[in-house]
Amino acid sequence: MSTDRPVVVYGATGYTGRLVIEYLREYQLPFIAAGRDADRIRAVVDAVPGIDTVPHDVVAVDHTVESLSAAFDGAQVVCNTVGPFAELGHEVAEACLATGAHYLDTTGEQNWVIAARDRWGAKFDDAGLLLSPGIAQMYTTGEIAAQIALEQPGLDSLDILVLWKGFPTYASTQTIFTNLLEPAHYLEANQLVPWEVAGGTELQVPGQHELALSLPWGGTSHPVWFQQDHRVANCRVQGGLFDRNLMNGIIQMAAAVGTEISKLPPEEQGPALKAEADKMQSGMPPRENQRVNRSLDSVHATGPLGRAHVLIRGACNYKQTGLMQAYGAYRLVHGAPLQTGFASGCQAFGHRELLGELQSFGLAAAPEITRV
Ligand SMILES: NC(=O)c1ccc[n+]([C@@H]2O[C@H](COP(=O)([O-])OP(=O)(O)OC[C@H]3O[C@@H](n4cnc5c(N)ncnc54)[C@H](OP(=O)(O)O)[C@@H]3O)[C@@H](O)[C@H]2O)c1
Repeated sequence: MSTDRPVVVYGATGYTGRLVIEYLREYQLPFIAAGRDADRIRAVVDAVPGIDTVPHDVVAVDHTVESLSAAFDGAQVVCNTVGPFAELGHEVAEACLATGAHYLDTTGEQNWVIAARDRWGAKFDDAGLLLSPGIAQMYTTGEIAAQIALEQPGLDSLDILVLWKGFPTYASTQTIFTNLLEPAHYLEANQLVPWEVAGGTELQVPGQHELALSLPWGGTSHPVWFQQDHRVANCRVQGGLFDRNLMNGIIQMAAAVGTEISKLPPEEQGPALKAEADKMQSGMPPRENQRVNRSLDSVHATGPLGRAHVLIRGACNYKQTGLMQAYGAYRLVHGAPLQTGFASGCQAFGHRELLGELQSFGLAAAPEITRV
């Protein structure tokens, strides 16, 4: 039966899915909470304070195009939080296209952003629908900073640092590790070029004396998004966690991928990485704390004759993700996006608009901007 709820949250039992639901409540947007176990979804949804103030349903689905299409029928927007997306995203995108729903997800996987663009982008555009993988703190907040830097004409190169403080969830850990098996790209002269780095890099962090240990973090989404922006020719991104111990663990694992796991038969590589990720993950992380969980997005934009630096300090990166997903859904229910087909959060909704939402919920500070 067709639903009259405009939004579906798929992956409602997850850490991020629950946060999307919390912010949908703030926007007073009726929704379906979908996932593979109705009882567990109901328990999660019922634990959200004040959830009875917004109409909602709980729906159990199988991860097949048929089952997902039946659940999405009648909805306008799907917020997909079921990752790793390179493995699990195609069925959801196909079901959105079949039912005429806009597709948003929370991915941080460059390979999925490229695959989604190439397989589904034109089809969504033809249908007048938005396909926006990666509306999430990593990397929409950094994209907002980059877009503010690019408000200054004559800048064509982006050097981006994305850092956050917290504990990755189960699916985030799986995603971080599976990213290690995939080629990571940066953008050079408008072409995606594979990174060749061994180990981590020490980077300067604005506002502190200690250096940060960083990785290309799977390449990130920015090079793919900015490849379709005529102003930008070059884009390199480094990122990671403020916690050096966690970063050292991930860097050691990246080295092991190069020396051991990549030598396994292809069908054994994924399971071997998943087993390593399981060792690092210790269950659902605690709820984020405004005074503990910080994010920092720093962008140097340069051109032959000028430069700009934009820094956005934020708090609670999973909450930022939940908020931006809910706002994206709200925005789509109340009007057309700026662009259909494959588009980033900023390309679809506008960077100043997204920043305004983050600021109004106390999750990002006003950008610190230097222009020369
Ligand atoms: N880029 C960013 O800044 C950012 C921020 C937040 C999240 N993310 C990404 O978003 C994804 C979700 O993160 P999370 O924090 O919510 O993780 P999580 O707490 O581990 O939740 C994962 C969700 O996916 C569902 N799921 C897993 N495998 C499934 C399958 N085979 N079929 C159907 N459902 C399945 C789980 O359902 P069950 O409960 O039934 O297992 C759960 O609802 C991850 O890929 C993460 O990397 C990215």
